[in-house]
Amino acid sequence: MPVHIVSHPLVRHKLGLMRKHNISTKDFRELASELARLLTYEATKDLETEKRIIQGWSGPVEVERIKGKKITVVPILRAGLGMMDGVLDLIPSAKVSVVGLYRNESTLEPVRYYLKLAGNMHERISLILDPMLATGGTLVMTIDLLKEAGCQNIRGIFLVAAPEGIRRLEATHPDVDVYVAAVDEKLNADGYILPGLGDAGDKIFGTK
Ligand code: URA
Repeated sequence: MPVHIVSHPLVRHKLGLMRKHNISTKDFRELASELARLLTYEATKDLETEKRIIQGWSGPVEVERIKGKKITVVPILRAGLGMMDGVLDLIPSAKVSVVGLYRNESTLEPVRYYLKLAGNMHERISLILDPMLATGGTLVMTIDLLKEAGCQNIRGIFLVAAPEGIRRLEATHPDVDVYVAAVDEKLNADGYILPGLGDAGDKIFGTK
């Protein structure tokens, strides 16, 4: 399972800003969206194109268009919504498939409460969005659901990942590529990434 750590200076700079303990909701939200946009650029760099002839200002000109598979963005509720705008800025015609999972705070395992996928999942590329890849439980369940619906091309986009989550994904879904701004040190006893960003959902929505 390839893990792509996107280490562009803009990505490192923006992630560094997000780590500040007293960052405002506005700044955290804007940076989550900007980072999602930059990570999407990387996560889609192997999309196939096809040639077309169009009428340009000086006559016919050959241009390229993205071909074939259509994309669905898959934000995991609720924090994944904070990355959606950034991704849709780049891929405005993508369909949105929503997965609602919450973490049982004692087992740390995900529980599903909502699922609404785009049609024809077998011919789509899924871009899963979640700011944090922590234990990997939520991600594994999301991938299970996408594969059950027929999707064969699945990628995950995260701001920060923990080594524990990456190892779990490698063991369960080695065919899924992951794009992250950073892989941090470890999880704490409550399943939070260290040094991490804290509770990304709360910071995006301004709750707590
Ligand atoms: N979810 C978060 O919001 N933060 C973490 O560190 C782990 C899971």
